[in-house]
Amino acid sequence: MALTSGTKLGPYEILSPLGAGGMGEVYRALDIRLERSVAIKVLPANLSSDPGLRQRLEREAKAVSALNHPHICTLHDIGSQDGVDFLVMELLEGETLADRLRRGPLPLEQIAKVGSEIADGLDAAHRAGIVHRDLKPSNIMLAKSGAKLMDFGLAKPAATSAAAGVSSAPMLSAALTMTSPSPQGSPLTTAGSIVGTIQYMSPEQIEGRDADARSDIFAFGAILYEMATGKRAFEGKSQLSIASAILEGTGAAQFGAADGASGVGRPGQDLSGERPGGTVRQCA
Ligand SMILES: Nc1ncnc2c1ncn2[C@@H]1O[C@H](COP(=O)(O)OP(=O)(O)OP(=O)(O)O)[C@@H](O)[C@H]1O
Ligand SMILES: [Mg+2]
Repeated sequence: MALTSGTKLGPYEILSPLGAGGMGEVYRALDIRLERSVAIKVLPANLSSDPGLRQRLEREAKAVSALNHPHICTLHDIGSQDGVDFLVMELLEGETLADRLRRGPLPLEQIAKVGSEIADGLDAAHRAGIVHRDLKPSNIMLAKSGAKLMDFGLAKPAATSAAAGVSSAPMLSAALTMTSPSPQGSPLTTAGSIVGTIQYMSPEQIEGRDADARSDIFAFGAILYEMATGKRAFEGKSQLSIASAILEGTGAAQFGAADGASGVGRPGQDLSGERPGGTVRQCA
């Protein structure tokens, strides 16, 4: 459902579309009360009809909105009107890392800068018990003030939800399965129970096991590799072959000095941290 300019969602007025992904559309909007520009993400309709999913979304939104970090996109508000659920976020100006990567690899100093900003943001979230679970270049905005991690929508407070016996299934996976085919170039799958972007997914997520901070670090490793080489860390002709490359650890070829950036090992190898059950490794 596309919203037209002038549509009101509570105290927010839709101005123009910013983009669309697997979970709905994102719009530039105006907070009429505060007279400030915001970004609004409209969530799939089936969310509101499932009380369990709704409750979980609200709980997670609460955790995410408490994160206050220069490299994490701030979540301002969550709302619902006429069956339309939406998230209100800080409006970010810039281009996503996915868009930037379409023009090729980043220079080394950029990799170091953007990489350490991503690590800082992840570290802050992980210390607050929040796992992103869907870290990928399209969820990283290269803003003037630096990299900003977006869409902690799939995140769950790691320790607390496990303690409360909450299912470890990706929070919005039901929503994702309902959405139409992803935009061009977006690696979404609706096969089996694996939903979301598979290229950056950790082995434990592919196997349907619980994700924790280390899963984000795995994705971060794959993103760093792509920033350095301009190539996906795990490629394949089908979702199945990508999944098996990730599970087998047979991603892109060893990346060395010949490629122009020595010291970057095989994707996932050094940055994935221990697998669940081992020792947690922090990002920063
Ligand atoms: N807070 C924001 N400020 C400015 N632009 C944004 C913001 N959030 C998202 N966007 C834009 O909207 C686009 C779509 O975002 P969206 O999260 O819906 O898609 P995605 O990240 O490609 O996929 P997914 O649904 O799996 O996260 C982004 O690529 C980005 O250009
Ligand atoms: Mg996104």
